[in-house]
Amino acid sequence: MPDKETGPRGVKIDGRGIARAMEEEVAAEVGRLAERGVVPRLVSVAVDDDDRSFESYSRSRERACERVGIETDSVKVPLMDAERSLGRELAKLSADPAVHGVLLKLPLPSGVSEAGVFSHLHPGKDVEGVHPRNAGLLALGRPRFVPCTAAAVMAILRREDLPLEGRHVVVLGRSRVVGAPLTTMLLDKRTGGNGTVTVCHSRTRNLPQMVAQAEVLIAAVGRPEYVKGEWIRPGAVVIDVGVHWLADSSLPKGGKLVGDVHFESASRVASRITPVPGGVGPVTTAILLRATVRAAARAED
Ligand SMILES: NC(=O)c1ccc[n+]([C@@H]2O[C@H](COP(=O)([O-])OP(=O)(O)OC[C@H]3O[C@@H](n4cnc5c(N)ncnc54)[C@H](OP(=O)(O)O)[C@@H]3O)[C@@H](O)[C@H]2O)c1
Repeated sequence: MPDKETGPRGVKIDGRGIARAMEEEVAAEVGRLAERGVVPRLVSVAVDDDDRSFESYSRSRERACERVGIETDSVKVPLMDAERSLGRELAKLSADPAVHGVLLKLPLPSGVSEAGVFSHLHPGKDVEGVHPRNAGLLALGRPRFVPCTAAAVMAILRREDLPLEGRHVVVLGRSRVVGAPLTTMLLDKRTGGNGTVTVCHSRTRNLPQMVAQAEVLIAAVGRPEYVKGEWIRPGAVVIDVGVHWLADSSLPKGGKLVGDVHFESASRVASRITPVPGGVGPVTTAILLRATVRAAARAED
């Protein structure tokens, strides 16, 4: 990792390439499970709310499952009486030995108790690492399933040989599914972390000054192109978790996907940077596949 202010700039991190390599590893594991008569199966459960970005994410996940030999299915429950229907579906899937991984679309609609719904999900099938039991294990330094996006960031840093030990890592965002678990992993001694971590959020003052201190910057603020190149320390590694559709009628597709970082200005300053699309997103899907196969292997052991 270049910690000098010289060296190459804006070298893109190929998330699709990393994901392909991980998919090959997962497919090999699926092959080993097949010899034992096990076919990993992943089922997604969501409240039917006509969310088109979720539909498109679901299709790409289904294609990825197909590529590696994981069976997949999805269940939709009506908004009316959602808590009871979700609980029923999760209980059924949790008890079904042919199902190894269960995805629950979050956030739940307002008025639906997350704790109530989670009480029906078997933590051993919680491949997205959102069940309180799995969150607790991560906090105790004994991770089992961890949120896939946070794990994807760690996988990218590890596979690209970008060490964290002793580095100043600045995380923008403290959400329960991205910023908070990622912070735990970045700090952890055993999981390849050991970074010195600063976490920023919507109440942080002087965000540009915080960003300027980062040797490794991880942006998960949920705001399109929010982080500007001028804020970034020359030579920093930038991992952009954000995904947003920016409408622009002058473009052939009517818009484009962007991240939380303004890519053009940031890539002039950063040494390595993940693009959007093609950065964290595909690796997140690969992590989910890997978690499903691990869940299947554990269930059979
Ligand atoms: N690539 C993937 O696979 C993947 C997966 C999940 C999410 N995402 C994307 O990642 C991004 C973050 O997701 P999320 O679920 O963590 O979002 P979230 O739940 O909305 O959390 C956003 C975090 O950013 C903080 N924040 C908001 N505005 C800020 C500002 N102006 N300055 C500093 N901090 C600010 C918030 O602070 P407070 O805590 O104070 O509110 C919060 O901690 C989104 O763009 C999302 O689309 C990508």
